[in-house]
Amino acid sequence: MKILFYDTKSYDRESFEKQLPAFPEIELDFLESDLEPHTARLARGYDAVCAFVSSDIGTKTIEILNERGIRLILMRCAGFNNVDMEKAKEYGIRVLRVPGYSPEAVAEHAMALALAANRHLHKAYVKVRENDFSLNGLMGFNFYQKVAGIVGTGKIGAAMARICRGFGMKVLAYDVYQNPDLDFVEYVSFDELLAKSDLISLHCPLMDSTYHMINIDTIEKMKDGVILVNTSRGGLVKTADLVEGIRRRKFFAVGLDVYEEETKNVFEDRSAEIMEHSTTARLLSFPNVMITSHQGFFTEEALAAISQTTLQNAMDFLNGKESPNEIK
Ligand code: NAI
Repeated sequence: MKILFYDTKSYDRESFEKQLPAFPEIELDFLESDLEPHTARLARGYDAVCAFVSSDIGTKTIEILNERGIRLILMRCAGFNNVDMEKAKEYGIRVLRVPGYSPEAVAEHAMALALAANRHLHKAYVKVRENDFSLNGLMGFNFYQKVAGIVGTGKIGAAMARICRGFGMKVLAYDVYQNPDLDFVEYVSFDELLAKSDLISLHCPLMDSTYHMINIDTIEKMKDGVILVNTSRGGLVKTADLVEGIRRRKFFAVGLDVYEEETKNVFEDRSAEIMEHSTTARLLSFPNVMITSHQGFFTEEALAAISQTTLQNAMDFLNGKESPNEIK
């Protein structure tokens, strides 16, 4: 089976090549370009393509992949909001993903963002490097005995809930389904979670029902001085409203690993470019906002699990096996 990899970085290549000896039936080729209609044309002669979070796998891309004879799309990530599943189904192209490679990797990053933003580590680091040892502007607040509100208690949200419990926080949660493993969590309505939480962390997928769930109305319902963390998907938060909420002094701090405009930025070095119309630049102008570039998943353990599961997904397809990782 020949698989064409899109949007490959050196670390992707290394981690997949490490796993290859265990999958002798599979051959890989790597492209740096991301998957979109223009680059989909390159897939002729391959059996499958492998794509990632910022790939454009919309209607046009799927049509071209279908013309090129691609029968399988391997997502080397959990989210699949960037795939036109209707179109894929119409053409009988199967889509498999890696649903839970290392929930702790993302949850630990969510807590890292919450702590860094709370204790202003992004500022403290720069100050001390400049021999400025003063503490002005660095005051934070204890998480101990505060309220954490977890939105979405699947694999990552559950890991985050456990971390928050470890910090001695009371943990509230909102989800459309309750996770029976989380007996220490109190499930409440979304409005109650917004009103009572000192730290709100988003862990639900991006769907029609969750798109812009954080908007000016829901921001207004939050406690003053709340910390908001989003490591899930940018579209959960309406950025213009977040900017407005920050301007109204609603937030103590905001930590974002994902944000609406991220697609062009993710994993690219744009440090020499002049950003034209960028709400990201506006967000970065606030002293209490900390942004990372979709790195929640980026641990050794997670990359190893992603490459192992992606290649196993390819083998399951090849052997005609049902896979729980198939998106239906
Ligand atoms: P999961 O499928 O295990 O859990 C998602 C949870 O959200 C489920 O419990 C589901 O019932 C809940 N949910 C669905 N609709 C909801 C709604 N309207 N309101 C509240 N909860 C709702 O997914 P998992 O593995 O925990 O991942 C969560 C998200 O994290 C993924 O969808 C993905 O977007 C994001 N992610 C981000 C990464 C990063 O590097 N920053 C890496 C991996 C995932």
